[in-house]
Amino acid sequence: MDSALPATQAKAEDASSSTRRETLSITDNRTGKVYEVPITHGTIRAVDLRQLRVDPADFGMISYDPAYNNTASCISRITYIDGDAGILRYRGYPIEELAEKSTYLETAYLLLHGELPTSAQLQDWHYHITHHTFIHESIKKFLDGFHYDAHPMGMLVSTIAALSTFYHDAKDVFNPASRKKQTYRLMGKMPTIAAFSYRHTLGMPFVYPDNELSYPGNFLNMLFRTSETRYRPNPTLEHALDILFILHADHEQNCSTNTIRGVGSSHVDPYCAAAAAIAALYGPLHGGANEEVLRMLNEIGTIQRVPEFIKRVKSGEMRLMGFGHRVYKNYDPRARIIKKIAYEVFDLMGKNPLLEIALECERIALEDDYFVKRKLYPNVDFYTGLIYQSMGFPMTMFPVLFAIPRMSGWLAQWEEMLLDPEQKIARPRQIYLGHDPRPYVAIDQRS
Ligand code: CMC
Repeated sequence: MDSALPATQAKAEDASSSTRRETLSITDNRTGKVYEVPITHGTIRAVDLRQLRVDPADFGMISYDPAYNNTASCISRITYIDGDAGILRYRGYPIEELAEKSTYLETAYLLLHGELPTSAQLQDWHYHITHHTFIHESIKKFLDGFHYDAHPMGMLVSTIAALSTFYHDAKDVFNPASRKKQTYRLMGKMPTIAAFSYRHTLGMPFVYPDNELSYPGNFLNMLFRTSETRYRPNPTLEHALDILFILHADHEQNCSTNTIRGVGSSHVDPYCAAAAAIAALYGPLHGGANEEVLRMLNEIGTIQRVPEFIKRVKSGEMRLMGFGHRVYKNYDPRARIIKKIAYEVFDLMGKNPLLEIALECERIALEDDYFVKRKLYPNVDFYTGLIYQSMGFPMTMFPVLFAIPRMSGWLAQWEEMLLDPEQKIARPRQIYLGHDPRPYVAIDQRS
C-alpha cells in the first residue's frame, strides 16, 4: 500500500467525481494540518498515522488498542466469522456443512491446504498422520516425571515444547518439506501425548496407538482401553468426538492463535510456538472455560439456585462461564451444533444431571436484560463440558480436548504468518507513563 501524504501534497482528485474515494481525511487540530490516508478493505494502516507530527522531533501518532479490540493484525484467508450474524466458515465452507458431511482429518486438510482433498490426497494425509502417532520412548520417561496430580494441560504444554529437543530439523521453518513433516508429527502426536497425560494421572499403563482406528477412535482407545485385546470405540461417541474436533479446529485470531503467530514470528520451531499456544488456551477465559462451566454448574447444584447465581453474576461477583464472546454477539453457531450432539450422547450414556441446570441458566440469561443488552449468548464451551463428562472424561481433560483439534488451525495460521511477506517479528508499541530519568539511589539512602 502506498504511504499516505498530507492532503496538501496529495494528488488532487476531482471532488465532483461520482467515484467514491477510498480514503480517510484526518485533521490534526494540534497543527491544523489535514492528512489523507488510504482505506483498503475498510481498514486504514496504523503506520499511516505516523505522519501526524507536532514537530519534526515528534515520533508521530500511534494508535492505542489494549487487547486488540479494533486492530487487525494480519490478512488471513483461513477462517471467516461474522459475529453479529453468528456465521463461521473454514475456507469458505459453512461450519454446519462441515460438521454434517466432513471428518476432522478432512477438515484439518482443508484448513492447512486451502481446498478439500481428493480421495488420494485424503488417503495420503491420513496415512502420514497415522504413521506419526507414536512418540519416542524418552518422552514416556519425561511424562513419568510429572507428579501424580499434574493437570494434563500442564503436561501437554511441556511435552509439546519438549518435542523441539527431539526434532532438530524443525528449526528450518522456511523449508516446506520440514513444515510438512512437523505438521504430520504435531497432528499425529497430540492425541497420543494427551492420552498418555491422562493415563499418567490415573497411574495406568500407557496404551500405544492403534493405527487401524480412526483419529478420534484411536484417541478413545489410548484413553480408555483396559484389558481388551482390541479396543472397539462406540461409533456414536467416536462420531460425536469427530464433530467436536471439527467445531474446535480453528477460530481466526483468538488468544491462542494470536499467540502462535506472535511467538512463531520470531522464527522459533513450531513445537515451541505450539506449546505457547496451548498455554494461552489453558486460561479460564479461553479453552479452560469448558472446565470452569462444569465447576460452576456443580457449584450451583440445583435448578432452584440458578436465579440466585445469576443475581451474583449480574452484581459483578463472577462471570457466567460459557457465555459471551469477543466476536460473537449472537448465538455461537458451534454451540447450536453442540447442543444437538449433546442429546445424541445423552441418549446413549444417560442424561447428564447438570443439563437441567445449564438449560435453566441459558433460559434465564437469554431473557434477562443484563445479558440481552450486552449480547451475551452461550459460546462453544457452554455445553461441551456436559458432553465430555457424559463420555467419561474428567474435567481436567476438557481443555485438552479443545487443544487437540485446534492444532490444525494453529498450524495453518502459523504457516500463513510465515509466508506472508508483510509479517515481521511481532512487536507492539507502548505508551510510557513511568518515571522521567532519575539518579540511582544507594541502598542506605532509600527510605
Ligand atoms: N458473564 C457475565 N458478564 C459478562 C460475561 C459473562 N460470561 N462476559 C462478558 N460479560 C460482561 C462484562 O462484565 C462486560 O460488562 P460491562 O460492560 O458492564 O463492564 C461486558 O459483558 C463486556 O465484556 P468484556 O469482558 O468486555 O468482553 P470481552 O469481549 O473482553 O470478553 C470473554 C469475552 C469470552 C472473555 C467474556 O465474555 C468471558 O469472560 N466469558 C466467560 C468465559 C468464557 O466462556 N470463555 C470462552 C470463550 S469461547 C471459547 C474460546 O474461543 O476461547
